[in-house]
Amino acid sequence: MADPRQEKIALLTSLAKRRGFIYQSSEIYGGLRGCWDYGPLGALLKMNVKSAWWRSVVTKHGNVYGHDSSIIMHPKVWEASGHLSGFCDPLVECLLSGSRFRQDQLEAESGTVFEYCGAKSTVNDKRSDDSYKVLAKNKGEYDKAKKTAREFYSVKRGIEKPELLGEKSYEIKDSVGEFNPENGGQLSEARNFNLMLKTFLGPAEDSAATVYLRPETAQGIFVNFDNVRQATRAKIPFGIAQTGKSFRNEITPKNFTFRTREFEQMELEFFCKPGTDEEWHEKWKNERMQWYIDYGIKKENLRFYEHPKEKLAHYAKSCSDIEYLFPFKAQPEWGELEGIANRTDFDLKTHGEFSGKILSYFDEETKEHYIPYVIEPSAGGDRATLAFLLDAYAEEGEGDEKRVLLKLHPCLAPVKVAVLPLVKKEGMPEIAEKLYAEFLDEDVNAQIDINASIGKRYARQDEIGTPWCITIDGDTVESGTVTVRDRDTKEQEKVALNEAVDYISKKLRKSRP
Ligand code: GAP
Repeated sequence: MADPRQEKIALLTSLAKRRGFIYQSSEIYGGLRGCWDYGPLGALLKMNVKSAWWRSVVTKHGNVYGHDSSIIMHPKVWEASGHLSGFCDPLVECLLSGSRFRQDQLEAESGTVFEYCGAKSTVNDKRSDDSYKVLAKNKGEYDKAKKTAREFYSVKRGIEKPELLGEKSYEIKDSVGEFNPENGGQLSEARNFNLMLKTFLGPAEDSAATVYLRPETAQGIFVNFDNVRQATRAKIPFGIAQTGKSFRNEITPKNFTFRTREFEQMELEFFCKPGTDEEWHEKWKNERMQWYIDYGIKKENLRFYEHPKEKLAHYAKSCSDIEYLFPFKAQPEWGELEGIANRTDFDLKTHGEFSGKILSYFDEETKEHYIPYVIEPSAGGDRATLAFLLDAYAEEGEGDEKRVLLKLHPCLAPVKVAVLPLVKKEGMPEIAEKLYAEFLDEDVNAQIDINASIGKRYARQDEIGTPWCITIDGDTVESGTVTVRDRDTKEQEKVALNEAVDYISKKLRKSRP
């Protein structure tokens, strides 16, 4: 039986395409791996996620300043940050199919390895003395493994109808990154693959013109530390925050918008006095976790993951991830939404060393100079959007009563209210048009839907997560009242037509965390 959790991702992917949330990039050309486009509703949803983040991280804290740095920066930035030398993943390649994998993401495998010292053709005198290994995970895979080995000598070494030579076999247990999980074929040795995307600035395509698309927005903040501090006269502790695109040439982009090559980050660099860093780290961890809960993600689908000391990034003293229980198959289901790291003074110190411009802070009260420590809550805009969508997806009822709905938080819902005239006569469409225009005038994103039965129109709105539907009916014409239907409870309430915009605006305002 299909796992209902994995079915959910298939259902959501289909809804996302059908209703205009998320499409594959360049779909009419067959798509581009690792890149996605957001349609009319998806663009609104992601914008709402970013606004909710900005409101919580920047607006609500008087001492966090907004920022927007360029995607392409001086190449020295990436030398100083350690990305040029160290931002690498171990890449392995199938010797037969050429498929590429991140070695550290492959699962441990056990079974019998067949090793050949070469092959010769059974129809001519051609032979190959290259050795080749192939894994059979169980007895049922022996024939398949040999077929893969023959294919290797035939396709890659040009041996027609090959006979395998010098077979040896041995057992392996829990070995990682030696064999292609799809065909059992031998993988290459791992090589370090730098994830930064390169391009050239200006007309000359040479190494002097090489620049990189930023792999994180953070560095644009560190290099502007002094500019922002001077312009705002900020006193420690204070933060600088920005949202924006980042790029990583991921070896295996996968799981819908979870791991992509172009993605949105929402990052805060919070500067504090050394010694107070651990306290601030705890504070930001809790605040960021609460943000996901406040905007509707169920507590049981969220957890912290503490990075073990030996696995920390080169700049971090400690790091906790906020993880979400994603319904993906081929990887641990808990997936990172956000990393909250204590970056110490690493970045300001190294940029100071590489640029020759000391990035320190003078405390006027204590008359001390020091390099601030940094707490960095770094979230992904696309991952958060995906988690909000997955958590909101629900199916209710049976048979004719069955409905699909996105229980999105009203602040995140792309459409806040739908205006639905019950019938296309008795002046109802005209009243609906007028009310719809009033919502747009008030910056409340609304839709008007005139066609199909009222049940079908409710269903269309439930499926895109619209929190409220307003029906214009006989009572509206006679006594000036409308019916407001709640998406989640289906409860209906009568409200005066001339108070409808105010009523919804107030509900929206009240729902804000
Ligand atoms: N400045 C620190 C930093 O960039 P990170 O853990 O590499 O840390 C932060 O990235 C967040 O960016 C992740 O938690 C994730 O939400 C998002 N992210 C990173 N790589 C991504 C990718 N390939 N696709 C989608 N989102 C990604």
